[in-house]
Amino acid sequence: MVLLKISEVESRDLGKIVNLEQAVFKENAFPKKILKKLIGKNTFFLKLEKGQIKRELLGFIIVLNDGKENVNIVNFLIKPKYQNKGYGSYLLQQTIEEIKRLKFINKIVLNVQISNKKAIKMYEKFNFKRNPTILEDYYHSGEDAYLMELDIES
Ligand SMILES: CC(C)(COP(=O)(O)OP(=O)(O)OC[C@H]1O[C@@H](n2cnc3c(N)ncnc32)[C@H](O)[C@@H]1OP(=O)(O)O)[C@@H](O)C(=O)NCCC(=O)NCCS
Repeated sequence: MVLLKISEVESRDLGKIVNLEQAVFKENAFPKKILKKLIGKNTFFLKLEKGQIKRELLGFIIVLNDGKENVNIVNFLIKPKYQNKGYGSYLLQQTIEEIKRLKFINKIVLNVQISNKKAIKMYEKFNFKRNPTILEDYYHSGEDAYLMELDIES
C-alpha cells in the first residue's frame, strides 16, 4: 500500500516546490519570490507526499483566503509521472474538506487555461461550474482562462 500524507508546506520545502512548479508550468510558473511569500500567509499551501521515511513530493495546492467569504485556488499540480493516477483528485478532495471546515467560506474560485481540458474535467467532477465568460490574455503565455466556481453549502 502506498502511504500518502497531506500536510502544510514549510519554508524548507521551497526548493522542491520551485523545481516542480517550473517543470510543470514553465513560462506561467510562479517565481520563487512569490512562492516563498505564499508559505504560511493566509493560505492552505498543502503538499501531497508519498512514502514513510524518505518522502517524495507528488504535488501541491495553494489556496488563498483573503479574509472574505471566497477562497481562490491559485496553484495546483501533480508531478508529471504521477498524473492520471487519482492523486490530484485525492489532494483536491481533501483540500475541499479542509475549506469546508472554515465555516465562513461559501465559494471556491479558480482560473484555468481554456485548453486545459483535463483540469476542467477534473474540476467539473467536483461540481465546479464554469463561467461562460472567457478571460482573455490571462496568462503570461497569452492564453485565455475560464473562471470556475464551487459553491460550498453551509
Ligand atoms: C490537473 C492535475 C492536477 C490533475 O491531477 P491528476 O492526478 O493528474 O488527476 P486524476 O488522476 O486525479 O484525474 C482527475 C480527473 O481528471 C480527468 N482526467 C484525467 N486524465 C484525463 C485525460 N487524459 N483526459 C481528460 N480528462 C482526464 C478525469 O475527470 C479524472 O477523473 P476520473 O479519473 O475520476 O475520471 C494534474 O494533471 C496536473 O498537475 N496537471 C498539470 C498542471 C495543471 O494543469 N494544474 C491545474 C491548473 S488549473
